[in-house]
Formats: sequence, structure tokens, C-alpha cells
Amino acid sequence: MSKTHLFDLDGKIAFVSGASRGIGEAIAKLLAQQGAHVIVSSRKLEGCQGVADAIIAEGGKATAIACHIGEMEQISNVFAQIREQFGRLDILVNNAATNPQFCNVLDTDLSAFQKTVDVNIRGYFFMSIEAGKLMREHGGGSIINVASINGISPGIFQGIYSVTKAAVINMTKVFAKECAQFGIRCNALLPGLTDTKFASALVKNDAILNTALAQIPLKRVADPSEMAGAVLYLASDASSYTTGVSLNVDGGFLS
Ligand SMILES: NC(=O)c1ccc[n+]([C@@H]2O[C@H](COP(=O)([O-])OP(=O)(O)OC[C@H]3O[C@@H](n4cnc5c(N)ncnc54)[C@H](OP(=O)(O)O)[C@@H]3O)[C@@H](O)[C@H]2O)c1
Repeated sequence: MSKTHLFDLDGKIAFVSGASRGIGEAIAKLLAQQGAHVIVSSRKLEGCQGVADAIIAEGGKATAIACHIGEMEQISNVFAQIREQFGRLDILVNNAATNPQFCNVLDTDLSAFQKTVDVNIRGYFFMSIEAGKLMREHGGGSIINVASINGISPGIFQGIYSVTKAAVINMTKVFAKECAQFGIRCNALLPGLTDTKFASALVKNDAILNTALAQIPLKRVADPSEMAGAVLYLASDASSYTTGVSLNVDGGFLS
């Protein structure tokens, strides 16, 4: 009996935003391990280059490109570069997000609101549009949006961030419905509490951590690598009939 090739990504070009560390880094490394040429992206080129070098050192294929997804001009520039350098895109992982203010919703300031919406909603939306146009030219592709459990059950003091993650879940269904005709699938990953720099304020505070753990049936936070397998499933032919779904990877939190 031969092993399945359903999870192979040989010959695929994949773009992962926010891939210089945390969940994005783990996703970039697993997609590369499965054969994809991964474009490792975030605002700062240096961190991306480090991840790309590590992938190449392991025998994989990777290219580092900087892109601030909250800046519309940088989104157009990065897609011009992808067109020129690769001519196609098969997988987009919208993973980079921001959560600049941790406060009661009544104290939300306008600049934090604007930044969160610009990156988490406008960024994901226009990255998906640019990727969708390129994928349409080549018969399809897979878009994966890293949302959050907060998109279903808002996290305390994470008001506007939670609102943007709910928008990402709806955005996933919009692209799934309207782009299926072009062979493009679009799905969301909903991570639970994961041990990264992003979540350090929660994970490193014993009182907050213990409150969180009490609500997680698996009684631990996730390692970033535990998010990557779900993204591989959604990126690969293993999920060829799956579009518009939100996949909870949360230790049972939402169950
Ligand atoms: N960790 C959790 O508990 C958790 C739970 C649910 C959902 N999530 C979601 O998982 C995703 C990844 O989070 P993480 O925990 O892995 O965070 P992280 O470790 O802080 O990494 C964030 C990544 O995004 C990049 N980035 C930040 N702002 C950016 C921007 N405007 N444009 C482009 N890149 C940007 C950062 O690099 P630069 O600084 O170089 O830009 C970095 O590579 C996010 O969508 C987050 O909402 C996380």
C-alpha cells in the first residue's frame, strides 16, 4: 500500500504573511517541508530572511519579501513582485494581524481602532483580492485566513480585535462563495490561546493564564506548530471539497 499524496505541495507557490515568527513561522516551515516554495513575509525583512534561510538550510524552497499588510501600496507592490518573480500563486495564508490595545471597550481609542481595522480587515481583504485575481488566471488556489476563537467568543479587553476576527470569518464565506467558480477555496483557522509573542501578555500572567486554562478542556495552551497541520490540510488537496469553513484549533475551548 502506498502513502497518500493528498498533503503534497510540490510545485506550489505559497505566501504566508506574518511568517517571521509565531504561528506564521510554523505554517511557513510545514508548507515548505511538504514541497511548496514559500514566500515568507512580514513588515521587517530581517526576521523573514532568517526563517527563509532556515527553510533553505533544511533543503526547502523559500523567498523573504517584506510587506506591511496595513499599507495598500505595499500590498500592490508585493503582488507586482510575486507576478514578476513567480508568475502565479497557489496558496495564500493571511496570518499577520494586530491587537494594539488591551482595554475595556469603552476606552478604545480611534488610532487603535483604525490600525486594527486597517490590518486585520482591509489587509486580509485586499490581500485576498490580489491573490484571487492571480489564482483565477491559473485555474484556482487556496486562501486560508487565520482568524481567532475571539471571532466567535470575544476575548475580554480585546474588543475591536475580536470584532475584526468576526469580520474575517464572514469574509472567508464571502470569498468561498464568490470565488468557487474560479477554482478558489477559502477557509479560516480559528486558533485558541497559542504560546507566541502576540499572546505573551496573556500567557505570562498567571492569573489570566489560569482563568484561560479553566476554560480549555485540553488544559494547556497550544504550541504554534499545532496550528500548522490544520493549515496544511486546508492548503492541500486533502481538503479539495472544503470551502467556507472555520476550523477551530482551540483545545476544545469553543465546544
Ligand atoms: N497567539 C495566539 O494566542 C492567537 C490566538 C488566536 C489567533 N491568533 C492569530 O494568529 C495570527 C498570528 O499570531 P501570532 O500569535 O503568531 O503572532 P506573533 O508571534 O506576534 O507574530 C506576528 C507576525 O505578524 C507580523 N506582523 C505584525 N503586523 C504586521 C503587519 N501589519 N503586516 C505584516 N506583518 C505583520 C510580525 O512580524 P513583523 O513585526 O516583522 O511585521 C510577525 O511575523 C494572528 O492573526 C493572530 O490574530 C493568535
